[in-house]
Amino acid sequence: MSAPNKSYDPVEVEALKPEEIARMRDEALAAIAAAGDLEALREVKVGHTGDRSPLALANREIGALPPHAKADAGKRVGQARGQVNQALKARQEELEAERDARVLVEEAVDVTLPYDRIPAGARHPITTLSERIEDVFVAMGYEVAEGPEVEAEWFNFDALNFPPDHPAREMQDTFFVRGARSGEGDEGDEGGGSSGLVLRTHTSPVQIRSMIDREPPIYVVCPGRTFRTDELDATHTPVFHQVELLAVDEGLTMADLKGTLDHMVRALFGEGMSTRLRPNFFPFTEPSAEMDMLCYVCRGESVGNPDRPCRTCSSEGWIELGGCGMVNPRVLVACGVDPEKYSGFAFGFGIERMLMFRHNVEDMRDMVEGDVRFTRPFGMEI
Ligand code: PHE
Repeated sequence: MSAPNKSYDPVEVEALKPEEIARMRDEALAAIAAAGDLEALREVKVGHTGDRSPLALANREIGALPPHAKADAGKRVGQARGQVNQALKARQEELEAERDARVLVEEAVDVTLPYDRIPAGARHPITTLSERIEDVFVAMGYEVAEGPEVEAEWFNFDALNFPPDHPAREMQDTFFVRGARSGEGDEGDEGGGSSGLVLRTHTSPVQIRSMIDREPPIYVVCPGRTFRTDELDATHTPVFHQVELLAVDEGLTMADLKGTLDHMVRALFGEGMSTRLRPNFFPFTEPSAEMDMLCYVCRGESVGNPDRPCRTCSSEGWIELGGCGMVNPRVLVACGVDPEKYSGFAFGFGIERMLMFRHNVEDMRDMVEGDVRFTRPFGMEI
C-alpha cells in the first residue's frame, strides 16, 4: 500500500477545479436570476444548494483531500456557496416583495361592498300577492279574518247550504279526515268512521266563522290555504290558496258587489279595468255569478281582431277570476243573522291562477317546488 497521498492535488479532483466550482456557481446564479416566482425559486434552491446539488457534492470531496489542500478547496467551495446563498436570499426578498404588491392589488377589499353576503331568501309570490289583495280591502275598512285549514264539515259544507248529497262533498274533491278508531280491525277502512273534519276545500267556511263571531256590519277579507284532491300538474295543485271577501250590512245589493269587484281589479291591475258577471250556481249565494275581469293585457281589443291576438286571454277579452254572489238567506239564518234586516255579498278566487296570468307563470308546479330561483325574480315587496 502506498503512503497517504500527500501529493493529492485538489486541482486534479475534477469537481474541485476552480473553473468547475465557478461553473457550478454561475449556473446556480443564472438559475436564481431566472426564477420567475417563489415556487420556481424553491426548486432552484433544492437543485443548487440541496444535499445532492453539484456544490454540495463538491464540498463532500474536500474531506478526502490531504490537510494542506483542504483549506484552499474549502475556501473556494465555501465562497461559491456563500455567493449562491446570498443571491438566493436577495432573489427571495425580491420575489416576495413582488408577490406582496400583487396580492395587495388582487385581493384588495372593497369596503364599499355590502357587508352581508349571506344570500337573502325570497318571499313566495303567493304570499306577496295575497297580502297585496288584503291591503286593497284593508284600505277600504275590511278586517283580515282567518280560519283553520282542518275544518269541520259543518262549516265547510252544511252551514254553506251544501245539501248532504252535493257532488262537492264526494271523495274526488274533498280530503276527508279519517275518524278516530272505534275498535280493533278498523285500520285500512277508508271511511275510518267519520271524524266530521275535512281539509277545507275553499275559504268560504271563514264567512261562517266571521258571521258567528261578529255582529253586523261585517266586512272581512279571508286569505288562506285550501285543499282539493287534484293531481299536481301544470294547472292544478292539491294545495292552493284563495282569498274570500264577505260584506254583511243593511241594504247591500249586487251593485255593491259589482262596485267592489271593479275597485279591486283597478287597484290590482290599473285604471280602466272592469269586471263582468255571468250567472252561475253556488249553494251559499243567491243569486250567484261567475266573475270575469277585463283582460289587463289587451283590454278586450284582441276580440275579433286576428291581427292582434292575445295570449293572456286567448283573445277572449275576459279572464275568469272566481265566484261571487249575494249571501244566501239560508246561510245568514244558519249564522244567526236576520235576513230581513241584513243582506250580504261574497266572492272568492284562487291566487295561483291570478299569479299565473298576472306574472306569466306557465306551470303551477313551479309554485310548489320551493326553488328560490323561481321566487327571487318576483322581488322582495313586503
Ligand atoms: N267558494 C267558492 C269556490 O271555491 C267561491 C265563492 C266564494 C263563490 C264566495 C261565491 C262566493 O269555488
